Amino acid sequence: KVLIIDYGSQYTQLLARRIREMEIYSEVAPHDAEITNLEDITAIILSGGPKSVNDKDALEIPDWIFKLDVPILGICYGMQALAKKLGGKVEKTEVSEYGKTIIKVSNNVLFSEIPEKIITWMSHGDSVVALPEGSEIIATTYNGINAAVKFSEKIYGIQFHPEVKHTEFGFEILENFLIKIAKLEKNWSLENLIENKIKEIKETVGNSKAIIALSGGVDSSVAAVLVHKAIGEQLKAVFVNHGLMRLNEEIEVKKIFNELLGINLTVVDAQKRFLSKLSGVTDPEKKRKIIGEEFIRVFENEATNEYEFLVQGTIYSDVIESAASGKNTAKIKSHHNVGGLPEDMKFKIIEPLRNLFKDEVREVGKLLGIPEHILYRHPFPGPGLAIRIIGEITEEKLNILKKADHIFIETLKEFNWYNKVWQAFTVLTPIKSVGVVGDERSYDYVLAIRSVDSVEGMTADWSKIPFEILEKASSRIVNEVNGVGRVVYDITSKPPATIEWE
Ligand code: XMP
Repeated sequence: KVLIIDYGSQYTQLLARRIREMEIYSEVAPHDAEITNLEDITAIILSGGPKSVNDKDALEIPDWIFKLDVPILGICYGMQALAKKLGGKVEKTEVSEYGKTIIKVSNNVLFSEIPEKIITWMSHGDSVVALPEGSEIIATTYNGINAAVKFSEKIYGIQFHPEVKHTEFGFEILENFLIKIAKLEKNWSLENLIENKIKEIKETVGNSKAIIALSGGVDSSVAAVLVHKAIGEQLKAVFVNHGLMRLNEEIEVKKIFNELLGINLTVVDAQKRFLSKLSGVTDPEKKRKIIGEEFIRVFENEATNEYEFLVQGTIYSDVIESAASGKNTAKIKSHHNVGGLPEDMKFKIIEPLRNLFKDEVREVGKLLGIPEHILYRHPFPGPGLAIRIIGEITEEKLNILKKADHIFIETLKEFNWYNKVWQAFTVLTPIKSVGVVGDERSYDYVLAIRSVDSVEGMTADWSKIPFEILEKASSRIVNEVNGVGRVVYDITSKPPATIEWE
């Protein structure tokens, strides 16, 4: 595999994606990670980063990287760190280069079949001003800055970012490094990955049994189907119906898994249990805690010690995020994912999607025959509708919210807007307001519609849904859902608001 060592560039994940798109497997590791499987590494890329190599706390390149004796490509900060480490000099120069910069390349394999002048994307204030012995400049900018260096037959550096689309021939340059210099073969594909994973899971599980908690979401669904392909009935798939799901969700999930995918789903009906624990609770964090704990209690009943393995739908962004967090992340909300279990449950963990990006997970799901409307559905929080009913949760309010939510989503789909937004839902407020229905005065709940555009949910903007869609959803909701007297649209971005209301 190609190991990308991350020095903090915003483009590192993009780089990994680009390389996988070339059918070569790549992974990202934080710069201070302890790397164990050294034999697997066939090439190393050192990413860019925000620091200067001359800062006191600059991140250095560890020695083991050179001992491996595999080809190395340093990008931006990576190139400067290489230059410094190998005995060259990096300094802040008069010219900083940000954005599009034309470079002139020389005749080198790294630039084979690439025009002499290309536009590249740069972002640097420091430059390599003196080369280590035996190195050679292989590209320069018109400002006279070293844009690429050959440090040795196997070690190269480039000052620009080949992974961004603004760099002309960027992918070709990466390919030249990986194929012509590192001599890697293009043989990675999701089809192969599925085949290998199935083999691997079969071997790992052997005659034992595994269990998975399904949430109805994309990741756990794909993980379940993949593991089921490997070990069939040795997998027990559990769906805890806490009653806080979307309208008819439990029926739909059951149908899809049982009928379409041939997986014998165990549905645990725990609605009463959850509702009675939640009765009278209004604090959002308390709600989350109760649901998390209750979920574990229910799951414990199912996960007897007959099961040696626990399957989880962890995906690559979860892995990267949890590696990056812990340092200085403030707790904004406790994000409890259904499936997060206490440490004293002694399972061996299987995470078949651990190395995949979200769109790759969807692609795997498609290859495994999971319907697209499951693969492309909006994210849904673990605590479900409990955090979309502000204040106390009652069965009556749950029913109102389920119906209203269903109408809103149906309307978005009708106008082909469902896939244009990242997440859409409704929120039931505890406020009642006055209206007129026929000749009578009414006094019913205010319901909010929320729809956001986002990439990973970290930041979000409210969706600019056309008025006619909002109009239709609003009029259907007040007409068809008893108990809702007024509909409002939430036009707040995140930050400062969060996506969910609680
Ligand atoms: P916020 O509201 O924090 O939401 O802007 C960001 C994304 O996370 C989802 N979310 C949760 N997911 N457990 C989850 O599994 C939770 O407690 C939780 N709270 C929010 C939210 O739906 C959005 O997609």
